[in-house]
Amino acid sequence: MEEADNQKNRRLLIVSNRLPVHIDYDGNRFNYQPSVGGLATSISNLQDKLEMFWLGWSGIRDVEKEHHPILINALRKEYNCLPIFLSRDAFDKYYDGFSNGCLWPLFHYFPQYAHYDPGEWNSYVEVNQIFSEKIMDVLQPGDMVWIHDYHLMLLPAMIREKMPEAKIGFFLHIPFPSFELLRMLPWREDILQGLLGSDLIGFHSYSYTRHFLSSVLRLLGVDHDFGTITYNDRNIKVDTFPLGIDVNRFTNAHQDPNIQVEFEDLKKKIGDHKVILSVDRLDFTKGITERLLAFESFLDQNPTWQEKVVFISLCVPSRVRVPEYQSLKQQVDELVGRINGRFGKPGWTPIWYLYRSLPFDKLIPLYQIADVAMVTPLRDGMNLVAKEYLASKSDGNGVLVLSETAGAAHELGEAIIINPYDQKAMSDALFKALNMPVEDQKRRNQPMRKRLRRYDINRWADDFLNQLAMSQRQDSPKPSEIEDGYWRGQLMKSFHKSKQSLIFLDYDGTLMPIIKNPQDAFPDDVLKELLKSLIDIKNTSVYIVSGRDREILQTWLGNLNIGLIAGHGAHIKPPFSQTWRDKEYSSLNGWKGQLIPLLEVYVDRTPGSELEEKTFALAWHYRKTEPDMGSLRAKELINDLESFIANTPLQILHGKKVIEIKDSSASKGNAVHEILEAKPDADFILAIGDDVTDEDMFEALPSGSWSIKVGEGEQSIANYFLSSHEDVRVLLNELTQ
Ligand code: ADP
Ligand code: G6P
Repeated sequence: MEEADNQKNRRLLIVSNRLPVHIDYDGNRFNYQPSVGGLATSISNLQDKLEMFWLGWSGIRDVEKEHHPILINALRKEYNCLPIFLSRDAFDKYYDGFSNGCLWPLFHYFPQYAHYDPGEWNSYVEVNQIFSEKIMDVLQPGDMVWIHDYHLMLLPAMIREKMPEAKIGFFLHIPFPSFELLRMLPWREDILQGLLGSDLIGFHSYSYTRHFLSSVLRLLGVDHDFGTITYNDRNIKVDTFPLGIDVNRFTNAHQDPNIQVEFEDLKKKIGDHKVILSVDRLDFTKGITERLLAFESFLDQNPTWQEKVVFISLCVPSRVRVPEYQSLKQQVDELVGRINGRFGKPGWTPIWYLYRSLPFDKLIPLYQIADVAMVTPLRDGMNLVAKEYLASKSDGNGVLVLSETAGAAHELGEAIIINPYDQKAMSDALFKALNMPVEDQKRRNQPMRKRLRRYDINRWADDFLNQLAMSQRQDSPKPSEIEDGYWRGQLMKSFHKSKQSLIFLDYDGTLMPIIKNPQDAFPDDVLKELLKSLIDIKNTSVYIVSGRDREILQTWLGNLNIGLIAGHGAHIKPPFSQTWRDKEYSSLNGWKGQLIPLLEVYVDRTPGSELEEKTFALAWHYRKTEPDMGSLRAKELINDLESFIANTPLQILHGKKVIEIKDSSASKGNAVHEILEAKPDADFILAIGDDVTDEDMFEALPSGSWSIKVGEGEQSIANYFLSSHEDVRVLLNELTQ
């Protein structure tokens, strides 16, 4: 949290539909119960770094007006919370209606349950507006605002409109669906535009990030660059932050004497039976009926397991006013009754169905005693139960059966992964899980537990807030167009009156187009003639500065009297010379130690990737990651590494599914720097390049030089840009006139 550490006086406003305090009214007085665990705990851990408070709905429908001040005072004083009061009608339509009757099913791939009611949409807009007004009552310049979840997707743009310079982050806790689903929503553009009011938008998994980016492109026609969208002249970073849990709280719970007592009680009730556990809100996305049917099928297929196993299904009542939830409740009740009726025997009830919320000290013994956790949602943004189970099994035993459509499956690949619609696969998974030797259980769980510990809830919040704090700073200015008659004229004037000129030209993408097969990009005759004419100009030295190897540059351009810099600066051949000089290898001490923490961040945030340490290099391998996520992260890593390695002899090599950082003691920047030092009287310096490696070259130039980026609208430290290699040739031609 370096960035936030530097800004202790900075305030953080958390905004979510619910406050992290559960409030009850018993007809006489209000009772307050702070929520523990998850977001609430992690955010409260930030309190010594940032001044913060939380805004959200009061949690009670129909609070009498005269009770508002009581709630406001109590919540502000005790919990740093600011309650928002909503009329009964607006709340019902916004929460039960649009949020849970439209967005929730649609975003979880249940379009058949989603209804598109304009009245409910209007209430959703109205409530988001009420939230934005409440925020404006307290928001001060310099504050950071962090908005959570699908109830408040219009809020970022509403705040942005009222305070354009505000720093706004948004995190979606549910899946972001593919474009084909999103397009069904009549207000899809409004939702996207609402979110784009943020500076940083976070999702649990890379597939949600990808779906969001592609929807923005298809619906608003706006593309992205390494996950950064430029919209209404602002840059919006879109990134993946898999939510973690408070691992210590779950892992250390077995030391709590109360929990030990509960555990022993439970053990007595369960006896010798093996335990399969599931824990969810009673929600149609959780696959509860499919799971029960799979258990029934398991008992049918494996009669020897009858009377030896119990299935504990813990369901919390949820959104009980929404019709789909009511009918699910009925279905589950009936199914449990039927299966228990069919298989139950005196002394053995196959399914223990608990329809209630349990406090922490009763939930943990269930996790601890479960031999198998069946976490098989049909679709889930993340699913924390899977993580809580693994963390609670402090002896490292237990088998997690996990649905491939839960966000958590991206990080918990060693679990038994199943398709939750495949009843046979689930029944087979149960058989495998119940028969799995303890060593195998431990071997599978160990890497998952380690991952949970590294990327826990605090790390998640730090990571998000750090990126948010830095978000607007990354906007480096865009180069202006050299086509502009004035600047072009100035460049020509300056060149013609110079006594000593130095010109550095990248090759691929600058003098030649980028083509599929790099071997075919040999210089055409027109280019060779152009280069010859440049060299012929009195007191002008021209260098080709390329990442290509020495041999190919020698073959293609060696017979011109032009300077050549190959291998990103590793080999230099001065103009009018036939001798190549290799840069000396100079090992930098300590660079690996400085880079490893950065690479570890990428390992943690990119499930499946690995860090390899070699004698003179570090390699980040991403062959085993989700392919799209791997390549996006690779680009980001290179971006991050570039600022780190500028002006050092380190080199980044992007191989097949691997990024390697080597001490090559060579970079384009260093080579250019060396040449500049040998020509201190150069009074006209021009560098042109299209590639990220050319940024080093631009950076090495003294002030007053001309630097030109090839590629329109791209970020660069160059002063000017040209659109294509053809424009570069035209400009160089003009110099020769
Ligand atoms: P969702 O956010 O969709 O409900 P998650 O699995 O991400 O699903 O989070 C559920 C949270 O609710 C977990 O922290 C879990 O411990 C808690 N939980 C679920 N069911 C119960 C229950 N019956 N009693 C107590 N806590 C529960
Ligand atoms: C999911 C949502 C949360 C929500 C929670 C409980 O996790 O992402 O935003 O708070 O479910 O649902 P509820 O409707 O009871 O707030």
